[in-house]
Amino acid sequence: MKQLIKKFTAHPASIGETYFQHLNFTIKGALYLIKVALGLLSHGFFPFLFTNYARDKVSVLEQKLLKRNPKNGAGISNSILDLIGETPMLQLNNFSSRGKSNIFAKCEMFNPTLSIKDRIVLFMLKQYEKDKKLKPGYTIYEASSGNTGSSLAMIAAVLGYKAVITVPAKTSQEKIDTMRAFGANVIICQSGINIDSPEHYTNKAYILSKDDSNSIYFNQYDNHENVNAHYSLTACEIWRQMDGKIDYFIAPASSGGTISGVGKFLKQKNPNIKIVLPDPVGSVFYDYFYGNELKSESYQVEGAGKDKVCRIHDFSVIDQVIRFTDEEAFGAAKRLALTEGVLSGGSSGGALAVAEKLIEALPNNELLRIVVMLPDSGFKYLSKIYKK
Ligand SMILES: Cc1ncc(COP(=O)(O)O)c(C=O)c1O
Repeated sequence: MKQLIKKFTAHPASIGETYFQHLNFTIKGALYLIKVALGLLSHGFFPFLFTNYARDKVSVLEQKLLKRNPKNGAGISNSILDLIGETPMLQLNNFSSRGKSNIFAKCEMFNPTLSIKDRIVLFMLKQYEKDKKLKPGYTIYEASSGNTGSSLAMIAAVLGYKAVITVPAKTSQEKIDTMRAFGANVIICQSGINIDSPEHYTNKAYILSKDDSNSIYFNQYDNHENVNAHYSLTACEIWRQMDGKIDYFIAPASSGGTISGVGKFLKQKNPNIKIVLPDPVGSVFYDYFYGNELKSESYQVEGAGKDKVCRIHDFSVIDQVIRFTDEEAFGAAKRLALTEGVLSGGSSGGALAVAEKLIEALPNNELLRIVVMLPDSGFKYLSKIYKK
């Protein structure tokens, strides 16, 4: 204090300045103490003095939702497109008759249009925009078994584009209604016709796009951005969620985008991880992989398998192809709903049926960690799979 008085006397001009500096420090210190006290309160300290009202009010579910969107701390999303991806990984504890299972389900039905395809559509459209191939007012044409079409219809509506989708006749009514609800023009093509026919749904969308100069053909089957989307997004999520501890990855394929992208990433991280492709009886992937003559016939499961191999489908990352029937796929999907409360589509059921076949064939009932991709929701197939 003496020193302070001495300082003020020696330099009378600085008296006011020093006083205000002192005051400033005191206020700052008080504010800091209040901040610390509030922080302790909000973290549940002093429970004997206060009820931790705020913490109790935020349910576990709400906390999870907030976590999904950390960049807007208040849990508010700016767009439905921000909610694509970061889907849950669920350990299946009741599904398998072998007790506590080692199957982990990647639940893609948690995407906004209830399927994995939201990921590639957003990723690819952003790329088309960046490359200046997709411009305001354009129409996007695509052939789809319904899921890519639903994602395209929804994302086109948000970004202000028009969508024209060609689908095979076996497409579920729920998927067709969904695409139309988002404003898409849906063209239903005959199922089971020759793959080279201009009326085949995969050719029709391309042919229509050629007559429209203000359009793009989306082309999930040939565009490598489909694979890149899964390599850079889906695969990283899976790796992070499983902490890298994966023995098998099983994913049904159509374009091959998912299994090629995720398979490549996982193999690069750990070449010992086995990649398994579950293929419906009637699809050509099994014959292609094992070098047989390609034979295709119709089957009921949607989204999985194909009557040709697409350009982006990388079989070099695949270790094994295992077949499943419609009955096995629908049976497994129904059992998943009854045992785990997860409503999935037929291709998910096929992948789960194959996971069980794989487990049965393992020597000494080895408890390996198997990640199974569940690409879409059973809400898309209520009338086809789940109606009694
Ligand atoms: C239900 C369902 N499962 C699996 C797949 C296969 O995904 P991918 O095209 O990435 O091979 C699709 C693709 O359309 C699908 O709709």
